[in-house]
Amino acid sequence: MTKRYQGQGEQRGETFSQILKRRLARRSFLKGAAATVPLLIVDPSRVFSRPQGSSTLAFQPIRLSNLDTVLVPPGYSSQIIIRWGDPLFRDAPEFNILNQTASAQARQFGYNCDYVGYFPLPDYRSNNPTHGLLVVNHEYTNPELMFVGYSPANPTREQVDVELAAHGLSIVEISRSQTGGWRYHRESFFNRRITGETEMLITGPAAGHDLLKVSYDRTGTRVRGTLNNCAGGKTPWGTVLTCEENFNQYFANLNALPDSDRRKAMHARYGIPRGASERRWEQYHDRFDLSKEPNEPFRFGWVVEIDPYNPNFIPRKRTALGRFKHEAATVVVAPDGRVVVYSGDDERFEYMYKFVSARPMNPSRREANFGLLDEGTLYVAKFNDDGTGRWLPLQAGQGPLAGWSQAEVLIYTRAAADLLGATKMDRPEDIETNPVTGKVYCVMTNNSRRGSSGQPGVDRANPRANNRHGHIIELIEDGNDPTSTTFRWEIFLLCGNPMVPEDQTFFAGFDPSLVSPISCPDNITFDGSGNLWIATDGMPGTFRMNDGVFAVPVEGEERGFVRQFLSGPVGSEICGPEFTPDYRTLFVAIQHPGEGSSLAAPTSTWPDGAIPPRPSVIAVTTRHALSRIGS
Ligand code: FEO
Ligand code: CA
Ligand code: CA
Ligand code: CA
Repeated sequence: MTKRYQGQGEQRGETFSQILKRRLARRSFLKGAAATVPLLIVDPSRVFSRPQGSSTLAFQPIRLSNLDTVLVPPGYSSQIIIRWGDPLFRDAPEFNILNQTASAQARQFGYNCDYVGYFPLPDYRSNNPTHGLLVVNHEYTNPELMFVGYSPANPTREQVDVELAAHGLSIVEISRSQTGGWRYHRESFFNRRITGETEMLITGPAAGHDLLKVSYDRTGTRVRGTLNNCAGGKTPWGTVLTCEENFNQYFANLNALPDSDRRKAMHARYGIPRGASERRWEQYHDRFDLSKEPNEPFRFGWVVEIDPYNPNFIPRKRTALGRFKHEAATVVVAPDGRVVVYSGDDERFEYMYKFVSARPMNPSRREANFGLLDEGTLYVAKFNDDGTGRWLPLQAGQGPLAGWSQAEVLIYTRAAADLLGATKMDRPEDIETNPVTGKVYCVMTNNSRRGSSGQPGVDRANPRANNRHGHIIELIEDGNDPTSTTFRWEIFLLCGNPMVPEDQTFFAGFDPSLVSPISCPDNITFDGSGNLWIATDGMPGTFRMNDGVFAVPVEGEERGFVRQFLSGPVGSEICGPEFTPDYRTLFVAIQHPGEGSSLAAPTSTWPDGAIPPRPSVIAVTTRHALSRIGS
């Protein structure tokens, strides 16, 4: 792999407008055509006229699509592994849209699959690429696409309870046959549903704090369910971290609290609705009504650790990692054995965080690590305009956090980070480290309010006003040590349509006329050669085209050469993406096909060509069983 830090490396010290001017000069030859074609699509023949010798990405890019189907490049195929409602147990009922019950849903695959983690069998160290467990988050529900005749203002008790049961996670055994197909095993010992009602523990420094006590749990250590699990991560000891993101939407009636109650401002900082919730669950469940349970929201917004190999494991909400709208949690082991967890808070002008464990990992005794994430230091990122940055410790009793307890810092994490002057980012989504280089990639999905009146203006790390298309930052920890408190950073991608000057795109210095248009990056992963794979969430809004998966080299001659690999069905966002250990299968979650429409007139009938559309996990493989994808 050749090192060529062309891109931002040469440009350090330039202002953003200088970068932009240079970039626009480079593409000035395209002027006429580009200005009149709002969505110019990459011509694959041009791409393949490039020498391919050094490329580790050999697929022929596909085009943006509006078709209600999954598209992959020639030579690849996709298949559905499991759909919303598919039974996970021998005695679970088959899916029937006209006969949905909470107890049936609690034994079927949940709705809106998001994070996908592959855990090999028989154990986490086996690297078995053809037999394992899929751990899948069910982020939220679209009741308008689930229930015939759904009334948003007056959902029925049964509908609400089905929705609660359709949240959470599924753990399901899967295997790949000799002929290359994947299937799930309905009768597996490992299969499990975790829902919005599953009992779990609260652990770490905030456990048992008065703010976590409610009428049905006076200890502040036991909670019912996990909600809005967006992305996640895997630990080196074979557990999964699942992240509670937009938990605020389930709660109602913040205005029942008096202004003198400090909790009111703290709930407002996290966006708890002042009156009724949009979902109206509070009509049937007191714990979602702040006039009855003012502390219940404090028990959500955490990273939850689960052992997928033990179907009886009680999930743990790890308070040491802070409370915010966690998108994902990526774990990396430092040279001294301590573990570091990167996590973004996905909301406009929120922050990026990392947690550093107090103790090193025990590589020989798995269970010794089950409390590792309960003790350590949480940091929040400060990006300087000169390309340096600092991780600021969120420690009670220090500086502006004098007078706070550490439990308060962890429960009111956003407010604590405000006081430290952390950098307000353009909706931090996934953060992942490149296993080949150790560099950290931080995805900002978009922020249409950046630079608008009364809102923060641009800075070097969030350089575009009205950032509709999002960007990716490359961060290098000093000494390449993830525990470092200082780092360097540069912009890797400014997403958008490279043929539209107003989009102000940047592809690490790569010729923009050759790349695929990309918008709203969300979840990422790396292939075996260290190429970055990006799933998007929002292209129906920005491009009027379906979301997709893109791959891009981050080193060498093709650094910044973005190519589209997959296009999803209408109305869906693409989540997951997750490779098997041999990089011969890419798992992808197709979330909310048909979103924006309703069951009466759905814009998608994927995957069955029938009503309803069903969120599903798919497997993408090459036609040649021994070929890797992208490496
Ligand atoms: Fe659930 Fe940040 O996307
Ligand atoms: Ca996401
Ligand atoms: Ca990821
Ligand atoms: Ca998203």
